Amino acid sequence: MADSHQYQTAHHVAFSVNAHLPDSYQTEIFDEALRMTSEILEKHGLQQRKVLIVGGAGYIGSVLTGHLLDSGYQVRCADLLVYGNGLTVVPYLSRPGYEFVHADLSDEAQFVSLLEGITDVVLLAGLVGDPVTKNFSEAAARINDAGHETMLKLLNGRGLNRVIFVSTCSNYGLIEGDQFADENFELKPLSLYAKSKVAVEKALLSQKDVDYTPVVLRFATAFGLSPRMRFDLTVSEFTRALALGEDLLVFDAHTWRPYCHVRDFSELIRCAIEAPKARVAFQVFNAGGDSNNNTKQMIVDQILEQLPDAKVRYQEHGADPRNYRVDFGKVFRVLHFQPRFTVADGVRELIAAIRQGLFHDIAQPTSYYGNWEPRV
Ligand SMILES: NC(=O)c1ccc[n+]([C@@H]2O[C@H](COP(=O)([O-])OP(=O)(O)OC[C@H]3O[C@@H](n4cnc5c(N)ncnc54)[C@H](O)[C@@H]3O)[C@@H](O)[C@H]2O)c1
Repeated sequence: MADSHQYQTAHHVAFSVNAHLPDSYQTEIFDEALRMTSEILEKHGLQQRKVLIVGGAGYIGSVLTGHLLDSGYQVRCADLLVYGNGLTVVPYLSRPGYEFVHADLSDEAQFVSLLEGITDVVLLAGLVGDPVTKNFSEAAARINDAGHETMLKLLNGRGLNRVIFVSTCSNYGLIEGDQFADENFELKPLSLYAKSKVAVEKALLSQKDVDYTPVVLRFATAFGLSPRMRFDLTVSEFTRALALGEDLLVFDAHTWRPYCHVRDFSELIRCAIEAPKARVAFQVFNAGGDSNNNTKQMIVDQILEQLPDAKVRYQEHGADPRNYRVDFGKVFRVLHFQPRFTVADGVRELIAAIRQGLFHDIAQPTSYYGNWEPRV
């Protein structure tokens, strides 16, 4: 049974943090918090929820960390800092309930110790993106394939609540015509990066008799400010170049892709952790919002509205053939999630940050600012 403190915490989470949600859904979240208290915390002698974020020092992880700490969670971040990105966690080191461990997800013994005292796991780490997995294919196989296989093997039987694997909408690859990909749409991963994601999704969801609840979130392409900016992602790449007065060459401007702000992703991960088990167990969710499907041309146009004098050239037949529009109906229907931030919001905050000089040496950005040269 929950004690009064735990009851109050569950009540706070369900009815104040989620006050914008329908009443009946808030009640479901409250019931879920009570279930989690008795079945996970009390059974394993834990006082508080503690999330292990594997890859918590990265572009998304370093924003998620702040969001979870602000939402009352404890956080253990495990990261190998392959882009020299340790500074991203410095502001968190003094926060109560935060812990950083320099760790390689492929190290079995270390991963077992990382799981001690943990209630929920968010898997964000790895070599992320098509170029880096192509250029560092051996390391990608070791980390994104073998390393993930090792982690999945070790998760069961430890009394974990939720295991959230962050996958990608890149899994849909190339979609001809006007179709929108929902979660059942055929997967056509084109890169090593997406092929590994599809394999891990399958491995996680095909497990039988595990004592935790696996969930897969297929993320749209991220944008937005983070302690670890990534200027190798479309919105930030284009905005950086145009804000610095560079000529921008855009390939295949008609190709579609969905986008989502890092702060919205962080909120969605919190929602997936707190959602009623029956709604998320063994489920895949496209992560984003319908209004954030954009062509590259639409991204450029939104930047030009804010930087009208910027110069853009266009060319066809670039190296990246991906073209997909995604249906985000399920995450809205089942988890009541929709993003708060538009691409224009992300562009605006990034231009302001660049003008304020917040980024060092971004005329020729180093790997701190993008997934170009990992130390692996
Ligand atoms: N950024 C996007 O647009 C986007 C889109 C779809 C999906 N995703 C997914 O979201 C997750 C996070 O992406 P991101 O943009 O924050 O990437 P990122 O590269 O900024 O973060 C990845 C983190 O993993 C760490 N890492 C790499 N190898 C490791 C290892 N062996 N052990 C421990 N840590 C290791 C890195 O040091 C880095 O901090 C990834 O799983 C990615 O596939 C991202």
